[in-house]
Formats: sequence, structure tokens, C-alpha cells
Amino acid sequence: MTDILQDKKLLLIIGGGIAAYKCLDLIRRLRERGVIIQAILTKGGLQFVTPLSVSSLIEDKVYQDLFSLTDEAEMGHIRLSRENDLILVAPATADLMAKMACGIADNLATTTLLAANKPIIIAPTMNSQMWANPATQHNLNTLKERGISVINPADGDLACGEIGTGRLAEVDDIVAEVEAFFLNKIDGPLQGKKITITAGPTYEEIDPVRYIANRSSGKQGYAIATALAHEGADVTLISGPTNIEKPRGVNIIDVKSARDMMAATENTLPADALICVAAVADWHVKNANDQKIKKQGNDLPIIEFAENPDILKTISHHENRPKLVIGFAAETENVLDNAKSKLNKKGCDWILANDVSGTVMGGDQNQIHFITNEGLENWPTMDKKSVAEKLAHSIKEFFKE
Ligand code: CTP
Repeated sequence: MTDILQDKKLLLIIGGGIAAYKCLDLIRRLRERGVIIQAILTKGGLQFVTPLSVSSLIEDKVYQDLFSLTDEAEMGHIRLSRENDLILVAPATADLMAKMACGIADNLATTTLLAANKPIIIAPTMNSQMWANPATQHNLNTLKERGISVINPADGDLACGEIGTGRLAEVDDIVAEVEAFFLNKIDGPLQGKKITITAGPTYEEIDPVRYIANRSSGKQGYAIATALAHEGADVTLISGPTNIEKPRGVNIIDVKSARDMMAATENTLPADALICVAAVADWHVKNANDQKIKKQGNDLPIIEFAENPDILKTISHHENRPKLVIGFAAETENVLDNAKSKLNKKGCDWILANDVSGTVMGGDQNQIHFITNEGLENWPTMDKKSVAEKLAHSIKEFFKE
């Protein structure tokens, strides 16, 4: 699968904040992903990074001057927006934001922004008082109302020695926003299809400090969410607690218990498809305690269980049932027989059965038996990303028909 960012064209406008040095790392990261970058370095930006370092990293010239004879002979300020898919202003200073909000065009960056006919993302950075100032907040709202996307500054130590909101967002987060922008624009075969995915484990509370969980990592569900987003689907991922990186370009709803997951899943209906990948706890603790359970001499605490809602089964019989409902079957014995009977018991359309007695849960590999009412396919052992892509392919075929 080619990287979503491969060959995408981006105009980077580098404003004059101390965080401008981070744009070198940003450029490197975007270039690694195949993004083709043109760059404008403002006068302020020039105080913090050199044109040579930017130029070396983007492997192109750096534009600086509105009145450059050579560049403007080709109408540089118009061309720079026309030739690119997206304009990213990072860092965006309070001054740049104010000029954008007022439509001032007094240098190459502001003129290009005023003449732009492409989507714009800004990543502001400044002193926290400057950020909180009503003038900046007013400009921010004006820019948002005009459809400009904002990557909010982070909290923390600021270069000026103060602490507050104003740090440039992390490079990872800026790359993620750029990725999400392109993912949302995908005109793929699943464009317009609303797909809900449950993933990860659930946590069932015993008391405020203890819970019952399972070994699910969320890897398979997250990989499926990514693969479907790459096909253009509008994906909502309902995730139990995990420690892995969240997929980009999908709506994420974080939940803890099976009952929360049930409610969140139902809230996404109507949907075109539901894929239940989560390892949902079958039971919750009926007598969960509001306070930490203390040791009581030789008496052991007694945990009583009550059954959790079965999300897959409930939605399979729901009045708003998605056209395609897919479940997983985690088995440790009689994999095929158990999985086949699960297909009927749950009332779903497809089951992906796997033997979880080994390292599947938490691991990177998976071997799937793909079961439908029409028959069985044994997929070879492959990594979870490949399983996700194969499943996405089957879903594409299903909706084609
Ligand atoms: N599932 C669900 N809600 C539950 C339990 C399971 O949505 N309360 C879904 C899982 O996401 C999976 C499928 O049902 O898609 C099968 O889950 P699995 O744990 O294999 O089976 P169980 O239904 O829990 O049955 P058993 O524990 O008896 O094998």
C-alpha cells in the first residue's frame, strides 16, 4: 500500500518564532513520507533557520522575497498556492495570524495566503499571554470561521521562560494533521460508507483501583480502521484502553467497560457496516465497590459477576442493523466448529476466526479462518496489517455488489 502522503504537494510557510527550528524536523519527516514541499521563509523565520538548511531538506529553492524579479516574473505568490494541494503555516506567529485575519498582504507569505485557493492549516506558537489576548483569540475565530484549520499550541515551558499555552504542537501531531487532511480527501471505493469498529480490551471495574481486563492489544482493530480509512470510508473506532498509537484520519471514541462500548456503538447507528474486533469482557462485576476494598482479616472478598451486553449479537438483531455485520471469534480449541456456531448464534454475516491460544493476542501475526454463510476460506498466517487489507478488500467487493 503506498503511503497516503506519497507525492502530495505541500507549501510550507515558515513564520518567525523560536520554534521555527522544529520545521526542519517537520520537513524531514514529511519528506520521508514522500511529500513534495515548496517553502516560503518569512523575514522572521529567517532569524531562526537558514534558507540553505530548508532548501537542502526540501531539495528545492526557498522563496523569500515578494519583489524577487526572477520569482515574480512567474507570479510566484499566485503560483505557489496553485501548484500545491495544501498550505501549512508552521510556526504561525500572532503577527501572521493577525495579518491573515485582516487580509494584509505586505510580504510574500501574506500575499500568497491572501491569494490562496487551497486549504490552509496553521500551527500557532507564541507567548501564552499573546495567545490568550482577546485580539489573538478574535483573529483565531475569524480564521476558523473562514475554514482555516488550526493545530492548537500545546501547554508547557515556553521559550520566553514562562509556562502556559503557546508551544508549537509536536512535529508528530503536525504530520498527523497533514495525514488526516489527505485521508479525509480520499475519493476511494468506500467513500461515503459509514463503518463502526470496536477494538481493544474492555476494563471491568472491581473498585476504583482494580479492574478485570484481557490481553487484547487493539492492533488488529486499529489496522482494520486504518485500512478502511485508506479506502475512503468514514470510520468510527470505538476503542477500549490500549497502549498503541491511535490510527489517523478516523473518529476515535475511547471507552473502558463493555457497557460503555455497547452504548457508544449503538450511538453510531445507522451505519453501513459494523466490525466487532474488541475482546469484550463477557461479565462485569456486579458488586463493584465505590471505595478501595480493604483487607479484612482472613475473609477474602467475594466478586459477583453479571453478564455484559453482547454488542455483536445486539447490533446483528437491531432495527437499525448495518447491511454488513462482521465479528471475530477468539477460540482456543475447536476453532472452526465454535466459530461456525458463533456466526449463527450472533446473527452476523461474516466471522473471522482465530486461534488465540498462542501469541495472537498482543502479537503482530494472525491466522484467520474467514467464515460466511456461503463457506470457509483459510487465510495464510500474515501480519495484522495484511489481514486488515485483505478484509478491507472483501468489504469493498461486498459493497460493489
Ligand atoms: N463480542 C461482543 N460483545 C460481547 C462479547 C463478544 O461484541 N459482550 C464480539 C467480539 O467483539 C467478537 C465476537 O463477539 O467479534 C466473538 O467474541 P468472542 O470473545 O470470541 O466470543 P464470545 O461471544 O465472548 O463467546 P465465548 O466467550 O463463549 O467464546
